[in-house]
Parts: sequence; structure tokens; C-alpha cells
Amino acid sequence: MVNRLEKHNNQIHSKTGNQEKDPGPLMSLRGINKSYQNNGAKIEVLRDLSVDIYSGERIAIVGESGIGKSTLLHILGTLDRPDSGTLLYKKADVFEFDKKKLADFRNKNMGFVFQFHYLLAEFSALENILMPGLIRGLKSKDIRERAEAILVRVGLKERMKHRVRELSGGEQQRVALARALVLNPAILLADEPTGNLDKKNSNQVHDLLFELNDEYNMTIITVTHNMRLAEYMNKQMTLVEGKLVEIE
Ligand SMILES: Nc1ncnc2c1ncn2[C@@H]1O[C@H](COP(=O)(O)OP(=O)(O)O)[C@@H](O)[C@H]1O
Ligand SMILES: [Mg+2]
Repeated sequence: MVNRLEKHNNQIHSKTGNQEKDPGPLMSLRGINKSYQNNGAKIEVLRDLSVDIYSGERIAIVGESGIGKSTLLHILGTLDRPDSGTLLYKKADVFEFDKKKLADFRNKNMGFVFQFHYLLAEFSALENILMPGLIRGLKSKDIRERAEAILVRVGLKERMKHRVRELSGGEQQRVALARALVLNPAILLADEPTGNLDKKNSNQVHDLLFELNDEYNMTIITVTHNMRLAEYMNKQMTLVEGKLVEIE
């Protein structure tokens, strides 16, 4: 635990450490522009947005509806492309990757949780959690062990074989969190992960997220309206005129 925390702090503070050992940012966005056409009118959502994200950072993106939080998160997750600008991940220009390489990159490095769980409702919790490992092409024994372990970890030992549609909203979101984390991604991207849950279930999912972050030490970027979740993060940011700014 102590070692993990030290590692975590070292990573966060690596910016100020030995220049030669400095790995630089985990992700760098440079000059990102993204606009949409709505009924003939152009909406510029992200405008010349640049940001560096360091390993181990926990960032909350907050602010009112429609300012571009999801648009930004989708670009950070390479689920959507900007009109212009670059995204460097450990210095690799990921939007230059072909479709397959980009999908592999995402599978290897990123976990996603959205407001709606996007699980396969007719499949069991366990089957849903096996999916990322199958896509990765891991050995089936490893996939199963990992999947069962993370489902136990999110408190669903007794619910593994249940179909997702038979689970409660809170349980479904815990399955979604398990799916995001089963392959131990470097980055967790979450878009209002508890936006559909009541306070009790939200708090359960948050507590779990905080504990898992301690254990797995991932970089987290979450969009949220929830103050408790936002305050747990070490940086709160918002979008102003299409640019990401830190809230002091
Ligand atoms: N696929 C799309 N087509 C057209 N307009 C979109 C699309 N996605 C988002 N928008 C518009 O872009 C703006 C930002 O949306 P979004 O990123 O979803 O905001 P937030 O997540 O902060 O609520 C909004 O005005 C929204 O209507
Ligand atoms: Mg949104």
C-alpha cells in the first residue's frame, strides 16, 4: 500500500523530478478543434484546446450541460476525432493510427464508464466482463480468472451469472466499472458514471472507484455533476469558450 502510494506520488510529481528520467505527459492534446453542424448552424464546441495529462492524475471535468464535456471525453478516449489538432499518448500520435491499431490501443490502455451502462443486457454479468479479454485475445483461463476476481471485487460474487437486465441500476453500474477495469487500463474515462443513480447507489459506486483507484493507480478523467466525486479528484476543470481551464 505504502509502496503503491509512493509510486503514485512519484508519478504525479515526476514533472518536477530529474529531467532525464521525466517521461513527460501521459497524454497531450494540442490545438484541438471540434464543431458540429446543427440545422445549418455551426457550433464550435472545442476551440484550440490544449492540455497535458500526467500519469496518476485524477481530473474532474465539471460544468453545465452543453459546454462540450462529452465531446472532449470522446476525443480523449479516441472514440471520436477532432476536426483538427493532435492527441499524443506517450508521444505517439494516435489519430495517425489505422482503425485496427487504434482499437487495439484503446483496448490496451483505456477503460470507459458512461452514464448508461452499455452492457449487453441479455448476457450475464460475467459474460460481459469476459468481452474485453476475448477482444484482446488473452488465454481463456486468464480471462475468466480476471473477470471473476473483479466481479468479486465490485461486490457481485453472488450476481455473476445473472443477466444484466435482471440487475439493479447500481449493480449494472458496478458491472460497467468492472468491465472498464478488468484489463487494468492506464486510464479510466468516465462520463457522468453515476448520473442515473440515486444517492446511496452513487456513493457505493464512488467508494468503489476510490478504493480501486488506490489499488490499481490509474489516471482518471471523469465528467461529473456530483460534488463528492469531483472533490475526490486532484484537479477540477471546466470548459470556457471551448478551452479547458482549471478551477482554482
Ligand atoms: N453528434 C452531434 N451532432 C450535433 N451536435 C452535437 C453532437 N454532439 C454534441 N453536439 C452539440 O455540441 C455541444 C456540446 O455537447 P456535449 O459535448 O454533449 O456537452 P456536455 O457533455 O457538456 O453536455 C452541444 O451544443 C451539443 O448539442
Ligand atoms: Mg455530456
